[in-house]
Amino acid sequence: METFTKQETYIREFDPHDYFDTYYSPKAGALSGEWLKFALTNLHEAFSQGGVKGKNLIDIGAGPAIYQLLTACEVFETIITSDFLEQNRTELQKWLKNEQGALDWMEIVKFVCNLEGNSESWEKKEEKLRRTVKLVLKCDVLKRNPFEPLILQPADCIISCLCLEAPCQDVVSYCTVLKNLKDLLKPGGHILIQSALNSTFYFVGEKRFSSLKLTKEDLKKVFEEAGYEIEKIIVAPREDMSRMDISDYDSYYYVHARKPLTA
Ligand SMILES: C[S@@+](CC[C@H](N)C(=O)[O-])C[C@H]1O[C@@H](n2cnc3c(N)ncnc32)[C@H](O)[C@@H]1O
Repeated sequence: METFTKQETYIREFDPHDYFDTYYSPKAGALSGEWLKFALTNLHEAFSQGGVKGKNLIDIGAGPAIYQLLTACEVFETIITSDFLEQNRTELQKWLKNEQGALDWMEIVKFVCNLEGNSESWEKKEEKLRRTVKLVLKCDVLKRNPFEPLILQPADCIISCLCLEAPCQDVVSYCTVLKNLKDLLKPGGHILIQSALNSTFYFVGEKRFSSLKLTKEDLKKVFEEAGYEIEKIIVAPREDMSRMDISDYDSYYYVHARKPLTA
């Protein structure tokens, strides 16, 4: 068995529909409980009381998912979302164009409307997100410029969920990726990274993918080493251990950091 999942394997074996069914299908999805509550609450707080807002936001490694953008579209004028895989970008485009057969995020959209005390309907929320996302781009975080050959306008905010443990083989690589992302930010810009700790694998349908085993102790060190100012770190234990066969993480993390004004 391949211990570290290579890019060729991602290209060949990552199926966006299997990913959605495994993790986000209403009720049965392994991440549709604790994770979504954790991640969406953190984003809601950052984009409301936390005062994170601005002109442009870049989302890194979205997979086929849009949940992470549902609150961002209230406080950013433009959003660029991205993923390494063409099959994921195709699914994102399908949802953005409201095409038949697109993944159905409605339950999660309703959850976010509730969280925001949003009196608008979930349909209006979806329309707003569709209007705000301007581009779906290919990205490879391992590249010095993850959007090569494009040069993007520096962003006010970068977000990324459950992504960086996929391409990074070790903590040094994770740190290098954070540095690559820092160059996509304006001075003073925000980065919000959320994911799982102590995970060694995750399944997408029947396919197994490796995960970097990041620890709580690594977090502060790696963001500081990459040259960020840390605003907030939250670590929360995984309470529901029922699906350890799908992925073996033991907690969730959220890091809000900023690129220094004088970098
Ligand atoms: C576990 S999925 C997370 C998807 C989504 N962000 C979510 O919250 O469910 C990991 C994602 O990392 C992406 N990925 C793998 N290697 C990458 C790379 N080198 N650069 C950017 N994204 C990458 C995969 O295509 C996949 O969509």
